[in-house]
Amino acid sequence: MPSPIRAAWILGVIASTLAGQTPGTLARSSEAMVASAEPFATEAGLEILKAGGTAVDAAVAVGFALAVTYPVAGNLGGGGFMVIHLPGQGEFTVDYREMAPAAAHRDLYRDQDGKVDPEASRRGHRAAGVPGSVAGLCHVQARFGTLPLGAVLAPAIRLASEGFRVSPALARSLRADRDVLGAYPESKRIFLADGELRKEGDQFLQPELAGVLVRIAEKGRAGFYEGATADLLVAEMKRGKGLITHEDLLAYEVKERAPLRGRYRGFDIVSMPPPSSGGIALIQMLNLLEGFDYQPSERSGPDRAHRIIESMRLAFRDRALHLGDPDFAAVPAKGLTSKAYAAHLRPQIRERAMVSRNLTDADPFAYEKTETTHYSVMDKSGIAVACTTTLNGGHGCGVTVTGAGFLLNNEMDDFAIAPGVPNMFDLIQGEANAVGPKKRPLSSMTPTLVMKDGKVMLVIGSPGGPTIINTVLHVVLNVLDDGMEIDAAIAAPRFHHQWLPDRTQCEPKSLTESAESVLGKRGHRLEARTYGIGDAQGIRRDLKSGILFGAADPRRSGLAKGL
Ligand code: GLY
Repeated sequence: MPSPIRAAWILGVIASTLAGQTPGTLARSSEAMVASAEPFATEAGLEILKAGGTAVDAAVAVGFALAVTYPVAGNLGGGGFMVIHLPGQGEFTVDYREMAPAAAHRDLYRDQDGKVDPEASRRGHRAAGVPGSVAGLCHVQARFGTLPLGAVLAPAIRLASEGFRVSPALARSLRADRDVLGAYPESKRIFLADGELRKEGDQFLQPELAGVLVRIAEKGRAGFYEGATADLLVAEMKRGKGLITHEDLLAYEVKERAPLRGRYRGFDIVSMPPPSSGGIALIQMLNLLEGFDYQPSERSGPDRAHRIIESMRLAFRDRALHLGDPDFAAVPAKGLTSKAYAAHLRPQIRERAMVSRNLTDADPFAYEKTETTHYSVMDKSGIAVACTTTLNGGHGCGVTVTGAGFLLNNEMDDFAIAPGVPNMFDLIQGEANAVGPKKRPLSSMTPTLVMKDGKVMLVIGSPGGPTIINTVLHVVLNVLDDGMEIDAAIAAPRFHHQWLPDRTQCEPKSLTESAESVLGKRGHRLEARTYGIGDAQGIRRDLKSGILFGAADPRRSGLAKGL
């Protein structure tokens, strides 16, 4: 392992340990399990479970708590996707992705000369889509939860109004984004303590955010999309020439969509359909890989890695060419996830690496801020929730709604800001994902359930922009093909290919030296990745005993804990 990479890796492990977690700790419970990226949020979920709530109640509590304790990605001002299994009722997916404001249009991010201005879709008020998280969480609680909304909001309200101790991870993340947050006075005041920076161990109170949460507890979604909160949000938009209006807020729609289903070596895969690309790409890759025989003894050999990389390449090519908001573009989801299509593509996976068109040397990871977050919850009744939520970039567009204490997303940057042209992350995206009024930008979020004979045996997801999909793929393969326990499956080093740029980013030790050498000879361009891929949070249920095993990713500072 090259030494800077080893150093980054060791630092990550030390950071996790300092945050109070033992890297790779396996949690175990026969009652219930919560795995999230932030320990206070995990505890919020457990509090609700102890009070008699189900995994759904706990998941909603975790979602609201993350908005308080994990501002880099937990949110009220962003969006997300939830995949839910209810025994006897089946699977449900809830899409609360942000929507483009009605005034958005395909040339929104071009200047007067027609030149694309990438900053405009990343920073500041115009980068924000209409938030979906509050509508989504309220919808889930009303439709699938058992406790009153106020009960599941209570931990978040307490954390915001009484405060909580700043962890090393939170101090680090706020410090890392001080340029973004420092550019907006309200963000600077709240998240950077007026430029002093919030230090580890400080008590962090957020009274304005607590006020919004109380309004949601009292009025449901109207506490956010109408009344005082909506007035503050629209006033913030006017202050920064943003586009979101009262009408946009009132028109925000949560969508329940038919779950995307696949099958892999006898297991059922249930994941998020468009506007996420995650479920389609995951199932497409699994379909491609299923056509190759595999024994765990081949795990570290070059053929296994070669086939996985080529499957990633093909799936991400199709992502770029075909995927967008299904309410606006025809998305060939059935075709892309069919076994027949995989059989048609598979012969392209030969001895040599394919060559992705338009080879480019640009590095999307130099720009990518992969601060989405995922949490998984399961209880002994078999209810399972996989939820991935995001502001898009770390701390979103950087703007805090003055007087309301929450950050806004920069999800507009997940659109193809100029269709057919590589965007700032070098993700090629097509016409289907052009900016348009009320459209939802294409996502890579992949909250996923794996089932056997109608019972959930794996709940998994991750942040990481385009690497989300491949992180989930790695964990699924590690559990299903290699029989690894969830902690090992999550901790195992990963690699990532996304069609373009045509290279495979590798965490240290994701490939053996001999596999690296063979893959190089076959035409793969392998690059060392200097920081971890993803932050997976997973739960495995032993189908015989019913015991739940949980693990938070040792790459960061999350916590999996059983009841
Ligand atoms: N904003 C990250 C994603 O949705 O893929």
